[in-house]
Amino acid sequence: MRRHLTLLTGFAVLAIGIVGSLMLARVWLDWRGNWPAPWGIASLAGVLAMGLGWRFLPAWWRGVLLLGPLVMWGGLQIHPGWFLAAAVVLLLVQINAIRHRIPLYRSGSAVINVLDAEIRRQGVHRLADMGCGDAHVIAALAKRFPELGFVGFETAPLLYLVARWRCRRLPNCRVIFRDFWRQSWGQYDAVFTFLSPEPMLRVWRKCQREQPKGGVLYSLAFEVPRIEAEVRMSAGRFDLYRYPRLPRRSKVVRSGN
Ligand SMILES: C[S@@+](CC[C@H](N)C(=O)[O-])C[C@H]1O[C@@H](n2cnc3c(N)ncnc32)[C@H](O)[C@@H]1O
Repeated sequence: MRRHLTLLTGFAVLAIGIVGSLMLARVWLDWRGNWPAPWGIASLAGVLAMGLGWRFLPAWWRGVLLLGPLVMWGGLQIHPGWFLAAAVVLLLVQINAIRHRIPLYRSGSAVINVLDAEIRRQGVHRLADMGCGDAHVIAALAKRFPELGFVGFETAPLLYLVARWRCRRLPNCRVIFRDFWRQSWGQYDAVFTFLSPEPMLRVWRKCQREQPKGGVLYSLAFEVPRIEAEVRMSAGRFDLYRYPRLPRRSKVVRSGN
């Protein structure tokens, strides 16, 4: 509620700054017979808005208020086609943020190092990255372990193309354009995910149902609700959780996918 109120106040202050600067520009027109330069009006609007919000808005708003009108004016100078192109690129990269509420967010190199150690420790043969993004994780691992198999599933078109390109010279690294939910995970003794909190129970159940004996799930950042991870490993900004495939009889959560 408080955040919304701050946002509303910020926009109101911005609007007052813009209207105020237009009024002053009008005075200038009457006095000098010509409008001031648009960037001058925008700069004045920024200064007015910043001054107005200085006392009662958080400090980071000052920059927003100062530069906001200039950015808006700059935006009007850009051909609308560029905005359309940017929107299309964004869609081709982040389509899964809309479809599955899972945006692209790359895991860091620390994750690759932790997975590297896990592959050795667990004796992994085939690892699949469910939602591989630009495939930087599987490509790095495929280079380190040329004798093992790595597969990535991705359905954001632009990411898929980048991922394919990245793995083009790695015979042990395959990228597949397919929704990973529509794919059996039975061939992978290790499944790596970096998704969101929402699908984690479904991911875990799919692993339990389909992974071979001895299979293991690695989830970066997101725990499986109600299931205790076997190990929690620090992997840079986030922790990596390991969930082994349980012996068939001791399944804890049943039904659904
Ligand atoms: C947070 S990113 C992780 C990228 C990569 N695994 C990493 O660790 O850097 C999640 C990725 O999953 C992809 N994704 C989400 N749902 C998917 C689905 N059902 N099938 C295939 N890819 C999916 C998204 O497009 C996004 O690239």
